Amino acid sequence: MTKNSLNHIAIIMDGNGRWAESRSHARVWGHIRGSRVVSNIIEEADALGAKALTLYTFSTENWSRPVTEVTVLFKLLRKFLLIERKRVLQNNIQFKVMGDTSKLPEVTKQLISQLEVESADNTGLKLTFAFGYGGRDEIVKATNNFIKENPGKEITEELLESYLLLPELGNVDLMIRTGGDQRISNFLLWQSAYAELFFTETRWPDFTRSEFRKICESVSCRERRFGNICPSSLESSKSKAKENREIITNF
Ligand code: IPE
Ligand code: IPE
Ligand code: MG
Repeated sequence: MTKNSLNHIAIIMDGNGRWAESRSHARVWGHIRGSRVVSNIIEEADALGAKALTLYTFSTENWSRPVTEVTVLFKLLRKFLLIERKRVLQNNIQFKVMGDTSKLPEVTKQLISQLEVESADNTGLKLTFAFGYGGRDEIVKATNNFIKENPGKEITEELLESYLLLPELGNVDLMIRTGGDQRISNFLLWQSAYAELFFTETRWPDFTRSEFRKICESVSCRERRFGNICPSSLESSKSKAKENREIITNF
């Protein structure tokens, strides 16, 4: 059986708060512990041969959280940029942030654009942090930009796609959510139209490279039909040509 290529993997890194609360710690402690997992998973995605890895780091809805929590998440982003910069560059990773970063501190914005520029010509894994990101927001902005640039022209799927934030990432092949909830929470709505979904009970701070690898292995064996029927059903349908004809005639 041929395996599916998982070119674009997207992860909803959820469960940090509950991980900390279940240990009688403040929720933010879960974010701190969760941030330690990120580089392992990036390395593993690279080792598995993924072309793109998109991590949900902060949603448009997360703005409603308490300021302390938002502040810790901002600080963790800055820390990642400072600590992981070298590793990103050494490993030929192309780093980008997609979403609205306007409310981030100036120094963090500078670190983002510095790493984006420094890694722009890298040809390895496309690593994207979705920050201040919402799937609906992305689609609405893409549509408005298209209308502004092409007044009166009818929009098509291909055209809309080209107006998304990072069209080069392509469709999501696998979307994983940790933390036990089974929803998409406004992540990559357009790009995940045919994504394979995998929900694990494991909370993000406990997520390991080996669980990640196992998920990828099991999903790469799933049959993806994209609305078609599988090759064996197609063969069996052909062998029943006479029956098919009779049904069509008499139906
Ligand atoms: C995910 O963990 C991280 C962010 C949303 C930034 P949560 O903070 O949502 O953790 P739970 O879901 O409350 O456990
Ligand atoms: C999704 O998790 C956002 C991120 C992981 C960044 P949430 O915890 O915010 O999602 P809901 O509120 O449970 O849907
Ligand atoms: Mg959550």
